[in-house]
Amino acid sequence: MASPLRFDGRVVLVTGAGGGLGRAYALAFAERGASVVVNDLGGDFKGVGKGSLAADKVVEEIRKKGGKAVANYDSVEAGEKLVKTALDAFGRIDVVVNNAGILRDRSFSRISDEDWDLIHKVHLRGSFQVTRAAWDHMKKQKFGRIIMTSSASGIYGNFGQANYSAAKLGLLGLANTLAIEGQKNNIHCNTIAPTAGSRLTKTVMPEDILEALKPDYVAPLVLWLCHESCEENGGLFEVGAGWIGKLRWERSLGAIVRQRNQPMTPEAVKANWRKICDFENASKPQRIEESTGSIIGVLSKIDSDGGVSANHTSHAASSKATSGSGEAVGHKLPSFSSAYTELETIMYALGVGASVKEPKDLKFIYEGHSDFSCLPTFGVVIAQKSVMSGDLVEIPGLSIDLAKILHGEQYLELYKPLPRTGTLRNETVVADVLDKGSGLVILIDVYSYSGKELICYNQFSLFLVGSGGIGGKRTSDKVKEAVAIPNRHPDAVLTDTTSLNQAALYRLSGDWNPLHIDPNFAGLAGFNKPILHGLCTFGFSARHVLQQFADSDVSRFKAIKARFAKPVYPGQTLKTEMWKEGNRIHFQTKAQETGNIVISNAYVDLVPTSDVLAKTPSEGEELQSSLVFEEIGRRLKDVGHEVVKKVNAVFEWHITKDGSVAAKWTVDLKNGTGKVYQGPAKGSADVTITLSDEDFIGVVLGKIDPQKAFFSGRLKAKGNIMLSLKLQTIFKDYAKL
Ligand code: NAI
Repeated sequence: MASPLRFDGRVVLVTGAGGGLGRAYALAFAERGASVVVNDLGGDFKGVGKGSLAADKVVEEIRKKGGKAVANYDSVEAGEKLVKTALDAFGRIDVVVNNAGILRDRSFSRISDEDWDLIHKVHLRGSFQVTRAAWDHMKKQKFGRIIMTSSASGIYGNFGQANYSAAKLGLLGLANTLAIEGQKNNIHCNTIAPTAGSRLTKTVMPEDILEALKPDYVAPLVLWLCHESCEENGGLFEVGAGWIGKLRWERSLGAIVRQRNQPMTPEAVKANWRKICDFENASKPQRIEESTGSIIGVLSKIDSDGGVSANHTSHAASSKATSGSGEAVGHKLPSFSSAYTELETIMYALGVGASVKEPKDLKFIYEGHSDFSCLPTFGVVIAQKSVMSGDLVEIPGLSIDLAKILHGEQYLELYKPLPRTGTLRNETVVADVLDKGSGLVILIDVYSYSGKELICYNQFSLFLVGSGGIGGKRTSDKVKEAVAIPNRHPDAVLTDTTSLNQAALYRLSGDWNPLHIDPNFAGLAGFNKPILHGLCTFGFSARHVLQQFADSDVSRFKAIKARFAKPVYPGQTLKTEMWKEGNRIHFQTKAQETGNIVISNAYVDLVPTSDVLAKTPSEGEELQSSLVFEEIGRRLKDVGHEVVKKVNAVFEWHITKDGSVAAKWTVDLKNGTGKVYQGPAKGSADVTITLSDEDFIGVVLGKIDPQKAFFSGRLKAKGNIMLSLKLQTIFKDYAKL
């Protein structure tokens, strides 16, 4: 048998505990070890009069059974006094059961101001006062359980109880917000709508039924909800006669009745009325984000496809969703092309934090750089239109509510570095649909071609909140799986503080969702302020990995997989933790301020260095510089020792041909007797020199002055630039080299 739920050491305050339901709660808590404050004003059921008898009797009953209890005779409107009684007698307050209540039933037109006000004072204001007085104590001790007592009259309405219904449902609103505000301090707030025989129900129920509906059949729910092991928070329960049921909101799929740049009319509302009220395919929103998020989604939907046209198919489509999503798999979305120039790639690089602060980043943000490169993760931007346009709603067999889509994971693979400018054709297909119970995962594969050549492949993993549970498969061989990070300290960590304008900058790369810029929209979606794009953080992290493990060489980038775990606010510092396992760099990204993991289970696959070298065109295209480097290597064998002593530096050369790097060479004049080899420096280079094959030969032959070439921008040097001056001497002294 499960161990009994005990309340030893807990202090419980039950309001209106002098009779009816409250008495039953007080007795039950005390029987299970709690110290109980029995509050009751002691008036009649209309709130007239007061007295200490009711509370005293219950305290007496508890004590007789060996329990601990004290009485309080204040009205709940004086909440502080009730909580003070608990603190004075027992030193703490753990549980508040807001139960006190009266009735002033009248049909609506006959309700006096007094009837209205008194009902609100006792039920709504009283619960507020008592709870507020306990709140800070609960926060401090990081534990609290609160019960609000609502009523079926509030939930459904009841003739003659307008004042009471309004106050009772007001309590639900109060509880909903307390549940959210209390969560982080382990303060849970739940609401019950009980049915029990008591003096309040005496006038409306026959005697024998009253007798049968014992308060004891309600109390166990209250005890469970108030136990420290109960995780329930923000719930609403109907309870009576030994039965308990939970309530939730349901919302119809609804209809968009407006078209872009056109006024919204009552006639359009009328025309869509059946659909607005149709609960087939209804959703069950639980959080305000789901509610307001869908409103934002509506705006972007109207904006993207210009109106209601998509809707007419969605009903037919959605009814098929229950019969499975097989129809969706293999569905091709309209192909589209993405054109970009250096402007877009630079804007993207700035958006993901590339900066002049980091010398290795210059080639991503300066089109005149000899190794100007497009960041590999720009590949997502090329393909993103496939999931941002309204085309998703046309997928057969699925009813997609754009507002319910979360971008869960991303995979990107490049087959060659992205061209610095280009027009790529994108083919999009629904690779698979997985049923995760709480939602559907839709895998959208996008293939991007330059002419006939496949340049990159993206897999967008979209999570459709609340659409799962249709009995579909849970996994697929199509899915590019996220991989857990190794269980050890990271091998490297890079941090970057995002700017307050980071999202403002990143959105220029095509994700115009106002959630990332407009405080009002962000507020509607449940955030304190606009959040950063997940793909922006993704770009930061990929740049970190490339910088740390591939010297920012884009030809080393093969693929990336990431899972979006939590939002980031612009201005926060991103911390990318990395683990090297062969050519796979596992990583996760944290928001340094909160320690939250914002990108999880991620990795970048690098092309092995040997493959990159094999791919460099130098072998095929016979760069003249290669011959020189080979010759330098041969001659170093004789004079290496002497040169190393003089120079003591490692030079990395990036030889360009037609504007892009065609070969890398390292001249190590620091270690041993010196060494020349193809490829980037194996340790770190003291200076990296970039110049064209022709200019290199010009320098070697003494036709070009390297200093002049440097100042005119033909020769670029980074690292210890002074060392490059030494080169002149080397070339002069060892003209043979
Ligand atoms: P009850 O009348 O037996 O208990 C209410 C208690 O609250 C009384 O002892 C009363 O003296 C006390 N009280 C009234 N005003 C107070 C004040 N200002 N300060 C402190 N104590 C005060 O009624 P019952 O049925 O046990 O009701 C308990 C709660 O459950 C109430 O909030 C009621 O609205 C709610 N409820 C009861 C239902 C039922 O079927 N019994 C149905 C729906 C809701």
